[in-house]
Amino acid sequence: MTGIAGSGLHLTRDGADAAGRERDRDADAAPRTGGDVEQARACEHRHVELRIRRQDAPDSAPYWQRFRVHPRPGDNVVSVLRALRLDPVTVDGERVDPIAFEHNCMEEVCGACAMLIDGMPRPACSTLLEDLGDVIRLEPLPKFPVVRDLMVDRARIFHNLTRVQAWVRLDGPWDTHERAPRISQRQWVADYLYSRCMSCGICLAACPQFPASSRTNADDNRAFVGPSALAQVRLLNAHPLGRFNKTDRLHAIMAEGGLTDCGNAQNCVRVCPKEIPLTTAIGELGRQTTLQALKDLFG
Ligand code: SF4
Ligand code: FES
Repeated sequence: MTGIAGSGLHLTRDGADAAGRERDRDADAAPRTGGDVEQARACEHRHVELRIRRQDAPDSAPYWQRFRVHPRPGDNVVSVLRALRLDPVTVDGERVDPIAFEHNCMEEVCGACAMLIDGMPRPACSTLLEDLGDVIRLEPLPKFPVVRDLMVDRARIFHNLTRVQAWVRLDGPWDTHERAPRISQRQWVADYLYSRCMSCGICLAACPQFPASSRTNADDNRAFVGPSALAQVRLLNAHPLGRFNKTDRLHAIMAEGGLTDCGNAQNCVRVCPKEIPLTTAIGELGRQTTLQALKDLFG
């Protein structure tokens, strides 16, 4: 377990991501091996208490509720939340409104299920119950406005992508047959790492420099854009077509809330479920912005 500097969060890297994708299932989990049978028996008798931080509306006060669930082998946090939604009764026997939460792909691709699990920002679909204790704390992802319960508004991620011009601008069709831009295998391999970002916001939740939501884009325009937007600048500046707007992107991250707001805590790279080399991107952008500053000075 590793502490996240300045964030009050705790990390464990247990490699649950790939295993989570494999094991997530809605169908019955049929034991196949002796080990599976043992695990199934253990799970049959396992009771887990979910302590969920709930909030009825964006401006209402949060409160906690406790639920008892009986996980099946291979269950992840989304699976138990889905089961709980069908019968939302607290440990005190009170029937309450179903818990609001988001999920979509169930294979760590869409980023929708990110939440705080036992104090650590993680994708709920790839976090297995067998890797957690018998009391599990679930909270909405910090730094983002709560919509309801475990659902947050992630609009500021996309707002920050627009601030750094994280797109490839094309004025008309590009001839992809003749003299089409080529990417070497070596560059493709390096760039692919950054293209896996799923805009989950987990790195932003862990970053002590990324401020809690101000709920206005105007304030967000001065706040740190965060590591995920910076990594997209790194990706698109290297793209054969994206390179045309490299100067604009570099000027965007040389402004207030840009690269120099990074405090080098390195939490982002520790928590990113896609293992994106965020700090490498930030280092590369440091060199690019220095060169750009010299170009701006001397032409
Ligand atoms: S960089 Fe990683 S943690 Fe951050 S938004 Fe992208 S996938 Fe999520
Ligand atoms: S449901 Fe978890 S990342 Fe898509």
